[in-house]
Amino acid sequence: MTIQDKSILLVITGGIAAYKALELIRLLRKDGAKVRCILTKSGEEFVTPMSVSALCEHPVYTDLFSLKDEAEMGHIRLTREADLIIIAPASADFMAKMAHGLANDLASTTLLATDEDTPILLAPAMNHRMWENKATQANVATLKKRGLTLLGPDIGDMACGEHGPGRMVEPQAILDAAKGFFFERPLAGYNILVTSGPTFEPLDPVRFIGNRSSGKQGHAIAAALHKAGADVTLVSGP
Ligand SMILES: Cc1cc2nc3c(=O)[nH]c(=O)nc-3n(C[C@H](O)[C@H](O)[C@H](O)COP(=O)(O)O)c2cc1C
Repeated sequence: MTIQDKSILLVITGGIAAYKALELIRLLRKDGAKVRCILTKSGEEFVTPMSVSALCEHPVYTDLFSLKDEAEMGHIRLTREADLIIIAPASADFMAKMAHGLANDLASTTLLATDEDTPILLAPAMNHRMWENKATQANVATLKKRGLTLLGPDIGDMACGEHGPGRMVEPQAILDAAKGFFFERPLAGYNILVTSGPTFEPLDPVRFIGNRSSGKQGHAIAAALHKAGADVTLVSGP
């Protein structure tokens, strides 16, 4: 399953995880997708326009008020040509802008001008306190209510040395999710709970009856259900 010839607009916002967006471009290109990139001003602090355009094999878009870009492509055309828009990493700031309909730079203006039918996939990445902040969670709820797809964030160690939810999902997972937009999704609209891994039933405070399940099969089932379009919650033991 490839996304050969699909047109992807990738928006890279300002966060440490921006370096992973470079790998995402590589994977999308390897799969045959046409990739156009918008890099926010903050995004440019983390990855260079040169790296992004070299991997896209196309100039990167950074300025709303660029005479050259606006004449050649224009922010409206950028969205119209996209089969899918991916925002990775999606910063807290950018999600707040989207939730409130701000349009004060190229990325946010382009998103606000996007057709309602164009699918949008966000991969948030931020410090776990930023993610858990009620303001961010309210913005996330608003974006989900509008039908946008959020992938992650993962839980783990952060660049700032803290631990929690906020890590951007891996580029391969974003590519897999992107493919899901272009193929039949018979389980779309279903919420499925999968449990996997071992269980331990206590006999007394010290002893238990358990099993040696690795959880691998359950993880594979969850991934397959997700590919088929379901919204999957995976509870992985022990
Ligand atoms: C070193 C550093 C790392 C940052 N990492 C993140 C991050 O991972 N996620 C995030 O939402 N903001 C992060 N920020 C803050 C954003 O860069 C800032 O909110 C910026 O305004 C985002 O702009 P943009 O949404 O237009 O790209 C970081 C800032 C600095 C200085």
